[in-house]
Amino acid sequence: MSTPDRVAASGITRIGVLTGGGDCPGLNAVIRAVTKDAIFHGIEVLGIEDGFLGLIEDRVRRLTLDDVSNILTDGGTILGSSNKANPQKFAVGKNEDGTPKWRDMTDVCMTHLEVHGIEALVVIGGDGTMSAAKPFADRGIKCIGVPKTIDNDLYGTDITFGFATAVHVATDALDRVHSTAASHHRVMVVEVMGRNAGWIALHAGVASGSDVILLPEIPFSLEKVCEFCLARSQRGKRFTIIACSEGAKPLGGEQIVERVDPTSPDPIRLGGIGKWVSNQIEDCTEIESRHVVLGHVQRGGTPVAADRVLATQFGHHAMHLLKTGNFNRLAVMQGGVLGDVEITAAADKQRLVPKDHALIAAARSVYTCFGD
Ligand code: F6P
Repeated sequence: MSTPDRVAASGITRIGVLTGGGDCPGLNAVIRAVTKDAIFHGIEVLGIEDGFLGLIEDRVRRLTLDDVSNILTDGGTILGSSNKANPQKFAVGKNEDGTPKWRDMTDVCMTHLEVHGIEALVVIGGDGTMSAAKPFADRGIKCIGVPKTIDNDLYGTDITFGFATAVHVATDALDRVHSTAASHHRVMVVEVMGRNAGWIALHAGVASGSDVILLPEIPFSLEKVCEFCLARSQRGKRFTIIACSEGAKPLGGEQIVERVDPTSPDPIRLGGIGKWVSNQIEDCTEIESRHVVLGHVQRGGTPVAADRVLATQFGHHAMHLLKTGNFNRLAVMQGGVLGDVEITAAADKQRLVPKDHALIAAARSVYTCFGD
């Protein structure tokens, strides 16, 4: 290829790349795709460490081809991430009453961007990261978003990378508890992540043939779940497998909050519903019950092939947008087609499981109970 073909039409010569929010498998695959494409087109890449925190604290380093070699299959992110650093509302200590002292660090970040000559930012993250990018876009920094999250709840895209790996891990766990549940004639509840969206529980529950799937979007009747477990026992199926979202809640009840981190833009951390469901079922049915919380196991380790492919496609599309001057866009996958939407389209919104989703109908047709 001759040299002129390798120069970005947009004239961009230096970009910054960061990974924000909770990590997920596939982040390194995006960093690799973006960096390789950029360097091929004569664009310098600066890696910003720990998401927007690195921009606030001026921790920026140049990425070379060597830096991104051999990282496609690695979990986590070589740049580090932070799910607390929102430049517009950054905790800088505590007030006398113990509440966080907030400061707007946008100007500080803008100075660091100028000092490093960063003309454009590739922000790889979820809804919080896209919201945090907006003020920079408003001030003339050319932003391109790449959607990530195991939760698959980002508005504007049908799928995010990290999700397939989380589903794979959760399915494996549900498969494994199957045999021990059968041996001991127990109810086994596996609590999976997903915040307010039940995508992981729904997909892993269907993939593993779980008997009960509890989603945040469908508040469950404990009575109905107990009746279902008892009916299985009476039919000779002396065990029940329950895939339970961390955000699931009983009818008329509330989600269980495991911890609150006031310095985080999204301070609520859910957790505990799996244990509650297991205890309640044991009390009501006298069937011995156990629970497992999968937690961060779902976010770690090597990405499955589908996530490596999706992450590479998103990285490629992000660079295409950047090179052709289509700024302030978010790479998305809609109906199996790679595309892009306004970067703010995903800000502060969640894509929940519709109650009439085709996969819920398919699960119901194989007698899966949703507790409703
Ligand atoms: O958004 C990804 C996610 O893993 C959620 O599924 C989970 O509720 C949350 O992050 C956990 O956050 P933290 O890593 O701060 O414990």
